[in-house]
Amino acid sequence: MRELDTNMGDRMNCAGSSFDDLVFFVNGKKVVETNADPEMTLLTYLRRTLGLPGTKLGCAEGGCGACTVMLSKYQPHAQKLLHYAVNACLAPICSLHLVSVTTVEGIGSVARQLHPVQERIAKGHGSQCGFCTPGIVMSMYALLRNNPTPKMADVEEAFQGNLCRCTGYRPILEAYKTLTVESGCCGGKGRENGCCMTNGKAEEKETDVDLAPRLFNAADFAPLDPTQEVIFPPELMSLSKTQKTCSLHFRSDRAVWLQPANLEEFLDLKFKHPDARVVVGNTEVGIEVKFKNMLYPVILAPAFIPELHRVTHTYEGIVFGAACTLTQVGEVLKEAVEALPPYMTQVFIAVLEQLRWFAGQQIRNVAAVGGNIMTASPISDLNPVFMAASCKLTLMDKDSSRVVQMDDTFFVGYRRTMLRPQEILLSIEIPYSRKFVSAFKQSPRREDDISIVTAAMSVTFTPGTCVVEDLRLSYGGMAPTTVLAKNTANKLLGRCWGEKLLEEACSSLAEELTLDPSVPGGMVIYRRTLTLSLFYKFYLTVLQKLGGQGLNVEEVRSNFLSATEIYHQEPPSSVQIYQEVPQTQHPDDVVGRPVMHLSALKQATGEAVYCDDMPLFENEVYLALITSSKAHARILSIDESAAECSPGFICCVFAADIPGSNTTGIMHDETVLADGQVTCVGHIIGAVVADTQLHAQRAAKAIRIQYEELQPIITIQEAIAAKSFYQPIRTLQKGDLEAGFKQADHILEGEMHIGGQEHFYLETNVTVAVPRGEDDEIELFVSTQAPSETQSLVAMALGIPANRVVVHVKRMGGGFGGKESRTTLLSTVVSVAAHKLRRPVRCMLDRDEDMLITGGRHPFYAKYKVGFLKSGKVVALDVSYYSNTGNSRDLSLSVMERALSHMENSYSIANVHGRGFLCRTNLPSNTAFRGFGGPQGMMFAENWITDVAQSLGRPADEVRRINLYQRGELTPFNQVLEQYTLDLCWDECLSRSRYRQSRAAVELYNRQNRWTKRGLAIVPTKFGISFTAVFLNQAGALVHIYTDGSVLLTHGGTEMGQGLHTKMVQVASRVLGVPCSKIHISETSTQTVPNTSPTAASASSDLNGAAVKNACQLLNERLEPYKSKNPKGSWEDWVKAAYLDRVNLSANGFYKTPDLGYDFETNSGRLFNYFSYGVACSEVEVDCLTGAHKNLSTTIVMDVGVSLNPAIDIGQVEGAFMQGVGLFTLEELHYSPEGVLLSRGPGSYKIPAFGDIPRKLTVSLLRDGAHDKAIFASKAVGEPPLFLASSVFFAIKDAISAARAESGIAGPFRLDSPASAERIRNACNDRFTKLCPVADPGIFRPWSVQV
Ligand SMILES: Cc1cc2nc3c(=O)[nH]c(=O)nc-3n(C[C@H](O)[C@H](O)[C@H](O)COP(=O)(O)OP(=O)(O)OC[C@H]3O[C@@H](n4cnc5c(N)ncnc54)[C@H](O)[C@@H]3O)c2cc1C
Ligand code: FES
Ligand code: FES
Repeated sequence: MRELDTNMGDRMNCAGSSFDDLVFFVNGKKVVETNADPEMTLLTYLRRTLGLPGTKLGCAEGGCGACTVMLSKYQPHAQKLLHYAVNACLAPICSLHLVSVTTVEGIGSVARQLHPVQERIAKGHGSQCGFCTPGIVMSMYALLRNNPTPKMADVEEAFQGNLCRCTGYRPILEAYKTLTVESGCCGGKGRENGCCMTNGKAEEKETDVDLAPRLFNAADFAPLDPTQEVIFPPELMSLSKTQKTCSLHFRSDRAVWLQPANLEEFLDLKFKHPDARVVVGNTEVGIEVKFKNMLYPVILAPAFIPELHRVTHTYEGIVFGAACTLTQVGEVLKEAVEALPPYMTQVFIAVLEQLRWFAGQQIRNVAAVGGNIMTASPISDLNPVFMAASCKLTLMDKDSSRVVQMDDTFFVGYRRTMLRPQEILLSIEIPYSRKFVSAFKQSPRREDDISIVTAAMSVTFTPGTCVVEDLRLSYGGMAPTTVLAKNTANKLLGRCWGEKLLEEACSSLAEELTLDPSVPGGMVIYRRTLTLSLFYKFYLTVLQKLGGQGLNVEEVRSNFLSATEIYHQEPPSSVQIYQEVPQTQHPDDVVGRPVMHLSALKQATGEAVYCDDMPLFENEVYLALITSSKAHARILSIDESAAECSPGFICCVFAADIPGSNTTGIMHDETVLADGQVTCVGHIIGAVVADTQLHAQRAAKAIRIQYEELQPIITIQEAIAAKSFYQPIRTLQKGDLEAGFKQADHILEGEMHIGGQEHFYLETNVTVAVPRGEDDEIELFVSTQAPSETQSLVAMALGIPANRVVVHVKRMGGGFGGKESRTTLLSTVVSVAAHKLRRPVRCMLDRDEDMLITGGRHPFYAKYKVGFLKSGKVVALDVSYYSNTGNSRDLSLSVMERALSHMENSYSIANVHGRGFLCRTNLPSNTAFRGFGGPQGMMFAENWITDVAQSLGRPADEVRRINLYQRGELTPFNQVLEQYTLDLCWDECLSRSRYRQSRAAVELYNRQNRWTKRGLAIVPTKFGISFTAVFLNQAGALVHIYTDGSVLLTHGGTEMGQGLHTKMVQVASRVLGVPCSKIHISETSTQTVPNTSPTAASASSDLNGAAVKNACQLLNERLEPYKSKNPKGSWEDWVKAAYLDRVNLSANGFYKTPDLGYDFETNSGRLFNYFSYGVACSEVEVDCLTGAHKNLSTTIVMDVGVSLNPAIDIGQVEGAFMQGVGLFTLEELHYSPEGVLLSRGPGSYKIPAFGDIPRKLTVSLLRDGAHDKAIFASKAVGEPPLFLASSVFFAIKDAISAARAESGIAGPFRLDSPASAERIRNACNDRFTKLCPVADPGIFRPWSVQV
């Protein structure tokens, strides 16, 4: 990069001005931007400049899809309209000249008319917090614009680039299935085979008589009518047809965007500005600018250059212009594969296989093939194929062009190619080929993920033989560049394709493709093993094909064949079973009915307002945090000078600016702003306030801090070694442990580690603080689960009474415990800045900051000793838990108490002793996360019970059943299990999952397949409901009835997508006897209901529901005389009469859970109000060679009592389950040994995606379970089902056991959580793993450590 060329401004465009107007259309309206900033993204422009906040910011790196919009272009040469979904967060506005943008606001609204894609996701219960919803709506909309009758596979493909953290995806797919050709019901619009609603066949679809009605009725949906879609703006059409393509020129004070009109001009400009960045899709450059702080003063956009977009079919292959998008490449290759004989298209098929798993649709729609090559990433997915296939590249500069073959000379170093600075890549030729070619990609998650190892291999044989003539083995992820394993390939030339060749290939590859044990990305053994395993897959595939050609080669054994199969999944299917309300229930009484989330429609149209969607306040400024880059250090100096000079800078805020107390945190052991010392990377040191977000962030990055480093403690093991624990060390003990072990026939010891988890709420933390100008009053708009805690800590920091602070929460884009206590980190700092400046201050954390600062689920490590009888009955358990608590105590003691109180999960053990150590480390403080320690506590239980079964050689389900609690038994904390339903859940789950048949089928499958194995597990859960801190078990409500009969309901709980407000309206509706439509909840605020507990612990419906009921009952009592006087009157009549009679139509409700109060010291008192129970059975298939797995099926039976709303409850079950799937099988936080979080966004931290849901998912809400402890006999549901996802983990472990048995290994083995592809592969010991031994741990510094 160079300084901006000062002559640039003098360059004239063809209109004769020095820079151009950018013309594009948004939702049909023309936008003319006279000052287009080359660095501004479409997302910022939509939200800030055009005031269209429906499109959301979830990550800014193309990884979540929340920002999806549709672009449409007219292509004059083809006379065609092109519609495609893109990520607005990566699309530079300058790339939009003569483009039409459609956002979620443009396709429908609640007030106007809903579009079917908006209506269906909402009514299909596919929107919980709703933050992902606009993006998902737009992905579906773009799909339908191109293909009004998609297949389910098309829908799944369209969603590869979208994430949702709440729903578990099933309801979204189910809702949109109604728009596919596979749909059971067309919603009345008719299909070729006739409409079920008119031909009377509707009932024939229901085969299972046991099924309750569906959670939605597709017949209610408005049909999709493609002729009614928003039209392409006519003015844009004529502009596109008539405007001569001429060069464009946009500039800001930092960068210039040049869009030349033709190739000649492009090459001239590249000659003049050799450091100019060529930008096509901006999917790589955009990330560099945003996250790597890169500045590219000159950007060259070849959007208008036909040569770079051309596709030419030649005798040798297909030539793609370097700017052809990946979608376009895929379409052309697919057509060629269909049209040409198979022997010509092997390379094409390999490219298509890589494209299948390349990013998501939004990225593929804009990312260019040339961009992938030129980025020269060592984990590029296409470069290995291009190399293995010897593709040809045409390079060009102003004066000449050259054609080079893509081989190992093309990449000259990490992200560097042989191109000269003035050269550009013009095109790539992908050849027809007679070779055998295969491509492989192994990533942590299958969809939209970057590779761990990616490879392509090609071989040709001397005609008529199996003698190798040419072999190319190309790997990504094994070196700083894509590499060819040349030594191995050379050794194998002239050799016959057979077992000996395989052996030599593997030992040679193991030697040739080594990795330093400290290599970035880690997973050294796994990556090395993969190089061999993938070659083995190729070997078998080729062997099979050679056999098919009649050549004399070894036959591939039938049980090896599954290793050659290309990955495919069945389309998802699901069943939801719930108990209908009794027929006697009044039709107006909505309790127990599957009422849609009350905000769902607004969420689907983008009209629902989240904190950062609020328009800017007058005089508002923006804040960016300054955080520590060291885990443990003394701050020596802070230099603000560079920040002070940066544009828009207003002020810095440091500890000295805090007017009140700098002490903060739930346990008052944290600082608002670090004072002299930092104790974790991400510790907030200060903040910069500037006029805009961008300016604040740039200024914050300019602050220089000098540290004196101190020894940090990062991992649990380091904390144990240093005895670095917070006090107290909790214990829970019952029975006589010594006697228990004496009684035992066997004693077994083990250990396990469970990794942490990032909340990954789609909406990051955000606060807007508005000083009110008098008496120190300040109003805060916060995305928090804990308004009262926020109020009290802000008041403390500002040194003012709590009555001057009002906290408002409208809704959150997800919380999951992450916004319970840690939101105050941000809201206190923002308040201090607002107080200092007397101006409104806003800050929404970027995803990487949010992940860095706010902590997550505690990693846990446990050591256990179990004593058991020959029968499998466990009689003694001694367990020590260690949690990685981080740099403050926060809620960690309560989390540990919950882990301990769930240490036996659902098993009755006479003698137990559990200890809980809170490891004090230099990581950001870990905190509440759905399940709150329960899942970790229970996970170890399921692990030792699996060990017991394995050591006895008995089926795990039998050992579990033997140990399962009986009705009325006592827990280790001496609580009687009343109204016990776990046995009912267990039996129903066994029968619904057809467990016995499935077990037999799994065993048969495993006998028939060596390299893929299936596993099955059934796991129970018992989850205690109540806050363990007794005082939190209270709630308030405030209900106003206005004279028109409308009701304003307020309660202490916050809405984060879990449907709490919907349930509360249902409760109020029943008690008051008025329809839901008369009741409104506006927000949660500290000025309506004070001193509220955080919305957490799954107890909010119980607590707030009872408080709402109480308030409504009071109002009923006051209205009663008027109802009696006028029994035939209407609600409005009674309300009016009461008002005129001077009756108070506002009531406070209150509730506290009775009979609670447990003491850990004495092990006495009641810890929980009641227990929620559930059981899940899961089946998986593991690819033993790669460690990848498929979730084949899951059956869940959950006791939610008498459901208040089965649609919401099933949504909670499925959402929690999928979050658990992430916890136990996928999500990994990587920390460096120095305590730096390395995974800070969706690119490196993978939550489950659409493709991860079990292909068959059955959720049944237990019928007729006795329960009377919570509102209307319902039960808590938010957290309890999460642990059921461990059934997937143990099914994986079951499958691994089957693989290990093939290598003669039996008995218990350690598998830490999550069961990532790496862990699965490493546990499947076989001939390939043996070739890649583990490096001696003492001799290197690993890239990441298990914290
Ligand atoms: C969410 C996400 C997921 C991704 N997933 C994958 C994946 O699964 N597999 C994978 O391999 N990659 C992946 N990528 C990386 C990236 O999308 C690809 O590398 C993409 O092909 C880049 O194309 P682009 O047009 O967006 O490049 P740009 O960002 O526009 O440019 C990239 C680089 O190429 C140079 N360049 C582009 N064209 C030329 C040319 N004609 N001549 C000279 N230089 C040129 C640019 O100067 C720049 O340095 C992903 C990226 C994101 C953001
Ligand atoms: S915000 Fe654009 S993909 Fe996440
Ligand atoms: S509803 Fe999808 S992220 Fe909340």
